[in-house]
Amino acid sequence: MPAPMSANADLAARAQAALPGGVSHELRYRRPYPIYIERAFGAEKWDVDGKRYIDFKLGAASQILGNCHPAVTEAVAQQLARTPYTGDCHLLELEWAEWIQRLVPSAELVRFTGSGTESTMLALRLGRAFTGKDKVLRIDGHFHGWHDLLLTGAKPGHDGAPSLGVPKAISDLTVVAPPEIEAISALLEADPDIGTVFVEASGANYGSVPLPDGFLHRLRDLTTRMGRVLIFDEVITGFRWSPGGRQARDNVVPDLTTLAKIATGGLPGGIVCGRRDIMDLLNPGTSRDGLAPPVSHKGTFNAAPLVAAGAIAAMKLLATGEVQSHADAMAKRLRDGLNECFRTRQIRALAYGDSSTCHLYFGDTSIDGLSAAQIRSAPSELVHGLRNGLLDRGVDFMSFTSCVTSSAHSPELIDEAIGIFDDTLANLDQTGVIPA
Ligand SMILES: Cc1ncc(COP(=O)(O)O)c(C=O)c1O
Repeated sequence: MPAPMSANADLAARAQAALPGGVSHELRYRRPYPIYIERAFGAEKWDVDGKRYIDFKLGAASQILGNCHPAVTEAVAQQLARTPYTGDCHLLELEWAEWIQRLVPSAELVRFTGSGTESTMLALRLGRAFTGKDKVLRIDGHFHGWHDLLLTGAKPGHDGAPSLGVPKAISDLTVVAPPEIEAISALLEADPDIGTVFVEASGANYGSVPLPDGFLHRLRDLTTRMGRVLIFDEVITGFRWSPGGRQARDNVVPDLTTLAKIATGGLPGGIVCGRRDIMDLLNPGTSRDGLAPPVSHKGTFNAAPLVAAGAIAAMKLLATGEVQSHADAMAKRLRDGLNECFRTRQIRALAYGDSSTCHLYFGDTSIDGLSAAQIRSAPSELVHGLRNGLLDRGVDFMSFTSCVTSSAHSPELIDEAIGIFDDTLANLDQTGVIPA
């Protein structure tokens, strides 16, 4: 029988000749082919075959307001007609920075960048410059972008070479620690060359490996006592865990914070903010010649007016906390519904997560005491089967076992997704892919 016609398949075949692997981001790679999305609105999106999906990927967690929120779209459209970008200072960058200062507790001063990856690069440069120490301690499995400087340790349980092309001399400056205060304390004691400590404020991978209770407070106390710069990567948690991110929700203030995704209105860009004395290293006025700042940082599209306009429109909606409360309630509904599916089908698995996230663990009904590598060790045929089964039935679950919700998800959409999940699960169970 001939294979059914698919515009997705046609585009994928064409993409093989233009893009390595046919994709622009390694996580978009999919066999037999990825879906090509044409339009998205609210918590739904449609591919080039006209097929509709309930969206739990939401722009890699950047669209907490739902896709194409009218206020953001309108602000961007109006700014585009004035100028997308001229390379000058402008009012919107100032207003946007003031929103960040008002909402994010650590934000004494703000610097805009081109992406989350650029934000963690800059924050680390600032940490190194401020302490005069080159080494950085980071937590096993936490992700801080794709650049060389923090890639070692991003893959859980693996502190070897993270990718071809990353120099060993760079990897050697990274110390990978488990999320345990005693172990981190011992590593800092033993190595006076570690000046900066990085942590993903959710725990690894959007919180699929939650941090132990009180961890961030204890890390704050430890780094203050030992004179190290503490950086919270809030690229995911910023404006999602609360309007001021995890630091505002849990009342613990780092020295520097990195932001992107929601903080840039779901548009391309990033932010580093933090202590005035550290951020002032970017101030040309503090240098001897009054021209070159002690820490160099450039970037053509930093705080581009087009992005700033959308981000300010988003800040106005995000500041009250209602967006986050609704998204949290929808994620809880999803987690509860999925756990009910597991219970009914007697599958040993857990749906869990903080804030507006939902993660899946197959193997037991608790993840207490498990390492990042253990939590993320589901068999490949299961995670691929689940992802493909959900996509075939019209649910995009972000990554294989993690997803996020938005203010655009309704209880009806969540319940529809739970039904689709249950159907997918039943199918996988029949094929013997789910561990007994
Ligand atoms: C915690 C965290 N930090 C940094 C980044 C990198 O951000 P970007 O993809 O904008 O470079 C990501 C991306 O997902 C992230 O989740």
